[in-house]
Amino acid sequence: MNKVDSETAAERLLVQGYELVADAESADVVVFNTCSVREHAEERVYSRIGALKWEKLRRPSLIIAVMGCMAQNSAGAVFRRAPLVDIVCGPRQAARLGDFIAQARAGQRILAIDGGDRIRHHKAPRNVRVLDPADAPPFARCGSVRPVPYQAFVTIMQGCDNFCSYCIVPYVRGPEISRPAEEIIEEINRLVETGAREVTLLGQNVNSYGGGLPSLLRVIHNIPGLDRIRFVTSHPKDVTDDLLSTMAELPGVCNHLHAPAQSGSDSILKLMHRGYTRRQYDDMLERARRIVPDIEIASDFIVGFPGETEQDFEQTVQLVRSAGFNQCFIFKYSPRKGTRAAELIDDVPEEAKKRRNNELLAVQEEVSARRNRAKHGRILGVLVDGPSKSDPSKLAGRSPGYDIVVTEGPETLVGSIIDVRITDSTPLTLFGEIVKHAPAIR
Ligand code: 5AD
Ligand code: SF4
Repeated sequence: MNKVDSETAAERLLVQGYELVADAESADVVVFNTCSVREHAEERVYSRIGALKWEKLRRPSLIIAVMGCMAQNSAGAVFRRAPLVDIVCGPRQAARLGDFIAQARAGQRILAIDGGDRIRHHKAPRNVRVLDPADAPPFARCGSVRPVPYQAFVTIMQGCDNFCSYCIVPYVRGPEISRPAEEIIEEINRLVETGAREVTLLGQNVNSYGGGLPSLLRVIHNIPGLDRIRFVTSHPKDVTDDLLSTMAELPGVCNHLHAPAQSGSDSILKLMHRGYTRRQYDDMLERARRIVPDIEIASDFIVGFPGETEQDFEQTVQLVRSAGFNQCFIFKYSPRKGTRAAELIDDVPEEAKKRRNNELLAVQEEVSARRNRAKHGRILGVLVDGPSKSDPSKLAGRSPGYDIVVTEGPETLVGSIIDVRITDSTPLTLFGEIVKHAPAIR
């Protein structure tokens, strides 16, 4: 989601005559696009702004903007903590950045957060001009700026109405709004015309897409030239059989589901306000594996949520051992002011959070190693992204299940879908050789 917001900001500025440069030192305008999901992310932004201090003193015309969820969350407080900042704006204001920059150049400091009744207003310092959030177009984007032409992200909805007790997102991204299907189709058509073969549909909870995710997938699947469709993120309580059978039925929809469990313990799930029990989560996994052949399921976990005992954590470990996720993102709980969990006592010591984090990572690593070994000999379709990060003489890409696959081959294959027979693996990477004319799982 943040990548899309960054791309939107860049695309708007490019239209207005700006250019992208490689580093902050050679830039006239630096925009920090921020996240507020955990405190650590916010701290990093402040230290990155701090690192520009001398540059800003040397070159007062340098404009520094802070955009996105942290800007939305802290609003006027950003100016107090980081006095070098000229512009603070919410995630839906990306399209107006050019105007803000013009005003900042005229000597003003600008605050423009997104509107809505969930918004907590932080008082801005007196010398800051507070703009009306009114006319920020929610999904305005043409998709012309993206790192590679053959892959693109497409926002299908914004905001969230789930209010998981630990999560700041419903407060900073506002209520759930689905984007009209015609607009989504139009954007994808444009992306395909400019080389996209794969799109990833984005939303905090894509399963509650207004017109129904399965029917949206069917329409998108008909777009000529589009080979692959992914979608993130799925809320486990909303993964229906209808969605799963649509995935199974449409060959272009990747067998890849990101359905974060967050915890394996019923009492923690309840405190988290997740809306499902462990049994219901297990049932979702069972249905997914039964209905979608070779489905790859990824998950997120929070360790050290308030009140999480060793027994609760053991249930999470047991879930990770048995679920067979292909990937897990594990986070230490970080209290977010304004959320309901922030009223609970953050009683799991940092040491325990760290240990649980490492232990869960180790369990997942074992699972990934075993799952990857079981793929040796299989042939997978791979959309080639570019040179491999660890060995630039090789090519790397993604399988339909979102596994990273590395193989030898000419650079001319970048952007195409090739068939690779898996011969070796580590927990994070599959290695293989290109096969021609093989029946592939794309
Ligand atoms: N502390 C730690 N992790 C969090 N996440 C969301 N809010 C918090 C928080 N307060 C994690 C969840 C979510 C992922 C995007 O970030 O696991 O799925
Ligand atoms: Fe946050 Fe829960 Fe919404 Fe995900 S579903 S964005 S975790 S409130």
